[in-house]
Amino acid sequence: MDKLVITRPDDWHLHLRDDAMLASVLPYTCERFSRAVVMPNLNPPITTVAQAAEYRQRILQARPADSSFSPLMTLYLTDNTTDEEIRKVAAAEFVVAVKYYPAGATTLSDAGVTAIEKVYRTLDCMQANDVPLLVHGEATDLSVDVFDREKAFIDQTLAPLAGRYPQLRMVFEHISTTDAVDFVLAARQGIAATITPQHLLLNRNALFAKGLQPHHYCLPVLKSERHRLRVLEAATSGSERFFLGTDSAPHATEDKQSACGCAGIFSAHAAIELYAEAFDQAGRLDRLEAFASHYGADFYQLPRNEETVTLTKSSWTVSRTLEFGKQDLTPLRAGSEVAWRLEHNND
Ligand code: DOR
Ligand code: ZN
Repeated sequence: MDKLVITRPDDWHLHLRDDAMLASVLPYTCERFSRAVVMPNLNPPITTVAQAAEYRQRILQARPADSSFSPLMTLYLTDNTTDEEIRKVAAAEFVVAVKYYPAGATTLSDAGVTAIEKVYRTLDCMQANDVPLLVHGEATDLSVDVFDREKAFIDQTLAPLAGRYPQLRMVFEHISTTDAVDFVLAARQGIAATITPQHLLLNRNALFAKGLQPHHYCLPVLKSERHRLRVLEAATSGSERFFLGTDSAPHATEDKQSACGCAGIFSAHAAIELYAEAFDQAGRLDRLEAFASHYGADFYQLPRNEETVTLTKSSWTVSRTLEFGKQDLTPLRAGSEVAWRLEHNND
């Protein structure tokens, strides 16, 4: 199969940043996706519906003129999130979820939850109002090996949480291990997971290929080949519990190529094409559409898109750098080929 027409996909996990950086990266997502769940880890974070409304307006203003892309906003959960704010989330159609970053787990997570018990009351309110919880699932205890943090989080936090809140809908974001796949498959109704292109296409060797590769550093960190194969199997399995979330996370090249490089991989410029590559490698292109365009919308109880996009198996070379506000960024596959191409003749 070298041509694929699928329902226009959505990106259920995306970082857009703000201001000039937002304006630089947003067009790549608008070209490919109809909607995206926009992460709230700005500095300062988006903690109120009023802030989310303003951020949404900035995104709409930065949107290319011919685009009908729709940003779906999230709030950043803190120890101090109020029930009143959760009720506002439930009432605001444009805010679809609340994001839980364990404090210290990743980029701009310092304002996150310092101990899960501190948000029990807020989670009660979210459950009562059917507001989904999006989870960055990594333990923050620095004595836990960096490759074991997802498993430790499942055991210590996520599994107990799923039991304590039996009606709370949760998305385990950017899963990277066999443990996460097993957890999601065995979990009760209402638990799903997003999967990034990098966790489908790369294993941890990519971090050390002929030298240190900072542009392959993200959190959760890439895992071994055994884990990658299981995550790929999950994505291509046809289970509605796994759907597309790029976690495209732009940082300036100089902030990644630094003595303390930031976590985050930018993939928005080739996102659906990279997923097509991964599904093609697995011999499961027939399952790309449901993963990319159906299951996420179903989980969020939103209509599936009606437009289509066309992908062809025809390679192209990614630029070495892309503009990022006043700086530049280094995209995934910089200077190398992507095997699939998005055609621009639809819709
Ligand atoms: O690699 C990552 N980058 N993981 C995250 O969880 C956050 C993201 C970012 O915002 O840069
Ligand atoms: Zn993210």
